Amino acid sequence: MHIDEEMKFFLEKIIAYANKTGIAHLTGNIYGGLAGFWDYGPVGVEIKNRIKEAWWNDFVKNREDIVGYEGAIITHPKVWEASGHVSSFNDPLVFCQGKCKKKHRLDHLIEDLLDLRTENLSIDQMWVIAKEKKLYCPECKGNLGEPVIFNLMFSTQVGSTEDTSSIAYLRPENAQLIFSGFKNVIDSTRVKMPFGIAQSGIVFRNEISPRNFLFRVREYELMEFEYFTNPDKVNECPQFDDLKGREINIHDKKDQKNEDKAEFKRLTVQEAWEKKIFKNKWQAYWLTVFFEWFINDLAITEEKLRLRQHMESELSHYALDTWDIEYRYSFGWKELLGCANRTQYDLQQQKEYSNVKMEFMEDTEEGMKKYIPYVVAEPSVGLGRILLTLIADGYEEEVVKGRKRIVLKIHPRFAPYDVAIFPLQKKDDINIIARKIYEKLKEERFVVYYDDSGSIGKRYRRQDEIGTPFCITVDFDTLNDNQITIRNRDSMEQKRIPISDLINELKDNREHYNRQ
Ligand code: GAP
Repeated sequence: MHIDEEMKFFLEKIIAYANKTGIAHLTGNIYGGLAGFWDYGPVGVEIKNRIKEAWWNDFVKNREDIVGYEGAIITHPKVWEASGHVSSFNDPLVFCQGKCKKKHRLDHLIEDLLDLRTENLSIDQMWVIAKEKKLYCPECKGNLGEPVIFNLMFSTQVGSTEDTSSIAYLRPENAQLIFSGFKNVIDSTRVKMPFGIAQSGIVFRNEISPRNFLFRVREYELMEFEYFTNPDKVNECPQFDDLKGREINIHDKKDQKNEDKAEFKRLTVQEAWEKKIFKNKWQAYWLTVFFEWFINDLAITEEKLRLRQHMESELSHYALDTWDIEYRYSFGWKELLGCANRTQYDLQQQKEYSNVKMEFMEDTEEGMKKYIPYVVAEPSVGLGRILLTLIADGYEEEVVKGRKRIVLKIHPRFAPYDVAIFPLQKKDDINIIARKIYEKLKEERFVVYYDDSGSIGKRYRRQDEIGTPFCITVDFDTLNDNQITIRNRDSMEQKRIPISDLINELKDNREHYNRQ
């Protein structure tokens, strides 16, 4: 199969799988669907909530140096004028002039149809290439019109009047709410430099061509934080020393210019620092923390992750240096998480437009210092993109005893259910024990699925498909020996254990999970 067909086939399969298992489906699909907007079903919402909870626990609750924030979804238009989103949050749009009249993103057409990278190209350069190579509409093969700049923000009218003064925007990122609310945070808390402010919430982007399932959508949950330092201390990062020996997969600017280079090189964080690959220690630190979070906490395959530096022409208007953590999807290496060095740009802009002071007072060794804080790193990641990555990485098909088995090898921490309980029969005494185990597990805050009908084989397969790490069967022997059969999702190994060992067994696996 040609690579494009293979990619399309894999995506179609994953979309059908997600629909069938209650992970996600296109919103309003009973009416044909609304492109770029997805509903999460009973399984998807559980996985999503677990990812969100883990992110919040690991990066806000369990850290002394990061506080939470929640800005409004419909936001003051001045915030986006100040940030530069009104003038610069754009994509190049081309219209088909043939039969279908569809809109396309020019950079995507060049990447997909000509297999060229566009990060380095201006819109004019892209248009020159498109004309030279006689690029056409992929839907109907029609000619393409000249590109226009398209702003990605959704706007709305607030209140009853419909004039320009009532325009407000649905936030396209959470970050800007953190910047416009910065003064409130420093005045209402006792945060000490360096520190972060985090927000997780829904954002909206009117993407020209939403695609690749949950990868590029128009409404999604964004989890991000701004990490602020004193501008004179961007390299004072004591935590860097704890991570400097760790190896990471790096694809920097230099290697991208050289077409022959491998997909990434492996360096320790210290080696990368000595080679001046990173501009500040905090950014190196946060990228490594997330690289390891994806590998160790989310069990994503290490060889499919790399840190890729943005080329100059690719940088957002606010960024001095940006790195993405990319994953190798079936449709190529693409951004999973972005981490920009936003400098003092945003606070300075919000200060200028609002006339409100954004300075921070720090009690330093040289006395009180007043300055506009510097954003050394902004780790920012879409929740749906993480979910898509867990599926892309963990979805497996295998043939077991002549029958196809679909299994989602997802880390138990993110599985929709911790465990499923199957009484072998609906008979009273077996059911009573199974129910007791169910109640006990619930008390211990496990998420449990109870299934008492159908063949055991089919019950196993259903749980494998959605990633439940363990299934427990209560049978006639249980009535005599107080033991149950516990089956491991990945290895399919089954063993008998005493009911009293069950909780420790589940906890132990969650803590020391090793994907097989
Ligand atoms: N505040 C910085 C910011 O928003 P971004 O690179 O535009 O940066 C951050 O987006 C993250 O949001 C990306 O790394 C990706 O995980 C996710 N993301 C971006 N656009 C998306 C879209 N259209 N659909 C789904 N996720 C998206």
